[in-house]
Amino acid sequence: MKVNNIKTKENKKSELKEKKRESPTRLINGELQNGEKNFDNSLRPRILDEYIGQCNMKENLRIFIQAAKMRGETLDHVLLNGPPGLGKTTLAFCIANEMGVGIKATSGPAIERQIDLLVLLKNLKEGDILFIDEIHRLSKVVEEILYPAMEDFVFDRILGKGTRAKARRVPLPRFTLIGATTRGGLISSPLRGRFGINFNLNFYDETDLSHIAKRSAGILSCEMEDEGAMEIARRARGTPRIANRLLRRVRDFAQVKGDGTINKEIGCLALERMGIDENGLDEIDRRILECLVIRFMGNPVGIETLSAYVQEESQNIEEIYEPYLLSRGFISKTPRGRIAAPEAFKYFGKELPDKPSRSTFWD
Ligand code: ADE
Repeated sequence: MKVNNIKTKENKKSELKEKKRESPTRLINGELQNGEKNFDNSLRPRILDEYIGQCNMKENLRIFIQAAKMRGETLDHVLLNGPPGLGKTTLAFCIANEMGVGIKATSGPAIERQIDLLVLLKNLKEGDILFIDEIHRLSKVVEEILYPAMEDFVFDRILGKGTRAKARRVPLPRFTLIGATTRGGLISSPLRGRFGINFNLNFYDETDLSHIAKRSAGILSCEMEDEGAMEIARRARGTPRIANRLLRRVRDFAQVKGDGTINKEIGCLALERMGIDENGLDEIDRRILECLVIRFMGNPVGIETLSAYVQEESQNIEEIYEPYLLSRGFISKTPRGRIAAPEAFKYFGKELPDKPSRSTFWD
């Protein structure tokens, strides 16, 4: 399989712009952090048999892939939606391997102009995959030119301006577009409608995460007991990338403080020393919960107020911290803001307030 990560001058420029909204460097953040790419790549499954978890999606995908191969066709366009670190990129590369085709990877904000997209598409070979990460961040003009490309494998190029403008139809190789997004709700319906296959990736359960930790420990030639794997799994916030990141640090503790084996004791010691509790919550999560439980006593809090209180960008709260707190039932969303759920009061050993002053989960 041929893999290309496209980095043109334009892409680099737009990456710099992107840095305006950097995600915090945090041990339990699902986004890829600086210097982590090689480590992350070395642990990625290459084929579906190696990919642990997301079983329904995987089994359906196997059928779609087999059917496309039997008909000698390209796979339908695929949209993958889910929080960062759940394996959307990994899955795209597994699909390419399973289909036996090449893949080129780019991201929504890196495709600034229509011509950038044309260059990408023209350079694909028949049947190849174009993977666009963060597809919800494509500009409108680029998105519109993607429609005929996805549907009819043509590119409508406008040459010249004003009354002299001429449209030229450029034929493209047949390709599969795999789009990944952390914000499925931001994908326009015309774009969504052009994906024949649409998957939502869910947070992983602890058993799957412990299997992922064990597989990764095997690749790193690190001894790991089942209970040690479970300590990592419990604190990995349902996210394989976080499990692998924690593994890296726990491995250091095992080497220095133990005999190199990751067992329950070393797992607990390491994770406690890194400030991650048995629910997988770190300091920022605790600040968010503290704000909702103690300061606002279960009343709804707007995202900007929450952001000011915990001193974290509202977009990071929405995309990184909140999905896990919601999925674990610590917080709920109401039209008037975020509220602490009973689980959050329990976390701080606080009684539920009898009668909150405004609308909450009591409504
Ligand atoms: N590493 C990262 N994600 C994985 C997954 N889903 N299965 C196995 N290893 C992984």
